[in-house]
Amino acid sequence: MDTIHRIDELREALAGGPRPAFVPTMGNLHEGHLALVRQARGLGRPVVASIFVNRLQFAPHEDFDRYPRTLQRDSELLQAAGCDIVFAPDEREMYPTPQSFKVQPPAELADILEGHFRPGFFTGVCTVVMKLFQIVQPSAALFGKKDYQQCMVVRGMVQQFAMPIEVVGGETVRAEDGLALSSRNGYLSAAERAEAVALVEQLRKVAAAVRLDRRRIGLVEEAAMHSLRERGWQPDYVAVRRRADLAAPAAADDPLVVVAAARLGTTRLIDNLEI
Ligand code: PAF
Repeated sequence: MDTIHRIDELREALAGGPRPAFVPTMGNLHEGHLALVRQARGLGRPVVASIFVNRLQFAPHEDFDRYPRTLQRDSELLQAAGCDIVFAPDEREMYPTPQSFKVQPPAELADILEGHFRPGFFTGVCTVVMKLFQIVQPSAALFGKKDYQQCMVVRGMVQQFAMPIEVVGGETVRAEDGLALSSRNGYLSAAERAEAVALVEQLRKVAAAVRLDRRRIGLVEEAAMHSLRERGWQPDYVAVRRRADLAAPAAADDPLVVVAAARLGTTRLIDNLEI
């Protein structure tokens, strides 16, 4: 596996070869990322993974500075998972001048849920993903479904800009107790880690209740928020939405997903379950 830090070197390395399958990451990798790399391998193309902690998607009060940078360990894991090239630019390489051209996703998708609680987050994500796509020129790009809204926003961007890229969603990888793997789980204390599984447990309850009776969605969402608060969480949202566009459900046969974000101590976790 090659580790490349510069855009021109990456372009040179990829020139003349098949367009790769691409797994963009911010590093501090876990089994969820590695599953995406293995899924990318299965597409039968060279696999490029990027590691770049993207300042543009962090608000000033968020964890940009404390986000773990673990390039050595990440590289070993990527190599073992079958990655061919890791692209690990520094900030000067990605943003040599302040990135004033930005990709602005539509408010109806990007200012709700995560975007409501993290204003500007999806502009930061779309801008860096667009730039990475221009650099890597992949034929496929893989994103974990744990970041459900992010997958949808990226898919919409690729469609509307007619980018010749297949956006592939990877299933959420969970710890044995059910907690969705996340780079931010490492911030949890031992007691918080034991409690963290309550998030997916609430999602399971919501999904089961909604399957039984869709008319109770509002009550069920509120009950889940209440239970989390009782257990010491600060939930931002627990919301049942249409899978197609993350809008509130309308017709009885709309496929649904329940999405949630909640803070446990200082750590903000997100998760979702398709219903
Ligand atoms: O999901 C992530 O890790 C990031 O949002 C991404 C897609 C790598 C963009 O910085």
